[in-house]
Amino acid sequence: MAEVGNGVHGPGTVYLNGEFVPYSEAKVPAEDRGYLFGDGIYEVVRFYAGQPFGWEEHMDRWERSAAGIRLELPWRREDLLQIARELQRRNGLESAPLADFYLQATRGAAPRSHAFPAGVRPSLFALLREGQAHPEAERQEGVAVITVPDERWGRCDLKTLNLLPNVLAKQRAKDAGAYEALLVRSGGYVSEGSSSNVFAIIHGAVVTPPLQNILPGITRLTVLNIARRLRLPVYERPLTVGEILRAESAFLTGTTTEILPIRTLDGEAVGEGRRSPVLDQLQKEFAQVTGAGGGDTLCRTERI
Ligand code: PDD
Repeated sequence: MAEVGNGVHGPGTVYLNGEFVPYSEAKVPAEDRGYLFGDGIYEVVRFYAGQPFGWEEHMDRWERSAAGIRLELPWRREDLLQIARELQRRNGLESAPLADFYLQATRGAAPRSHAFPAGVRPSLFALLREGQAHPEAERQEGVAVITVPDERWGRCDLKTLNLLPNVLAKQRAKDAGAYEALLVRSGGYVSEGSSSNVFAIIHGAVVTPPLQNILPGITRLTVLNIARRLRLPVYERPLTVGEILRAESAFLTGTTTEILPIRTLDGEAVGEGRRSPVLDQLQKEFAQVTGAGGGDTLCRTERI
């Protein structure tokens, strides 16, 4: 891992537009549309012990995001997996317990003008970085979250680079000493976190907001599938801040977040002050299907 400034350690080698280059040499033109307009898409895929979790699901979403912003992708998903494999090899991460693959495509570089440029090849950037597991205390006890208004646009189902409202929400959480900001719409309905989905356990049922202008999280899908397999009642329905506060427990989900309990919401304790057995079950099963729990590795390749 090379020092890249500000004490941040970057991966040794990254992929940029057809080449594997040292991190410090990866340069994009100043008029790249990702930089000027946030005109692009991204994905984050976690590799457990060298294997991608939910690769096909992430690629399905990647392709939906591209179609949603009318970006024609010149790469097949096999090409992208090949890039990830090469980054694993070049960075010595083939069997790292956790590694996070960041993939980004923009509409390319062209003189600044809002409408799409003609005949410009999209640019592609990929990076594989060692992943960090959340501290055990956080995975057990949970994290603090705050609520902020959801001020985003109408296509939050697309994983685009336009993350300014998410960035501002996360910073408000950080300023408040919290881990995440839950985004709240009119009527007090929670949509999702700034970089996570949200769940509550209510009377033993697993409840999460429906796919209405939120990111269809791959971890969200995994948790719903686990819950159904465990024959737990599952509801995808609108969820209020008040319901989360009164729930048996509540938690966040995400590729790098995994399943993280919510301890407090705007400073108030969530749940009944003890861990819900349903949450225990979900975390245990999640570790099994991802392979993080040293479980049956065959499960990892099963379609989720
Ligand atoms: N964020 N909702 C939002 C707004 C997100 O940004 C994310 C993920 C999720 C969870 O989706 P998934 O389970 O597929 O990771 C929900 C990624 C990890 C990020 O921006 O870094």
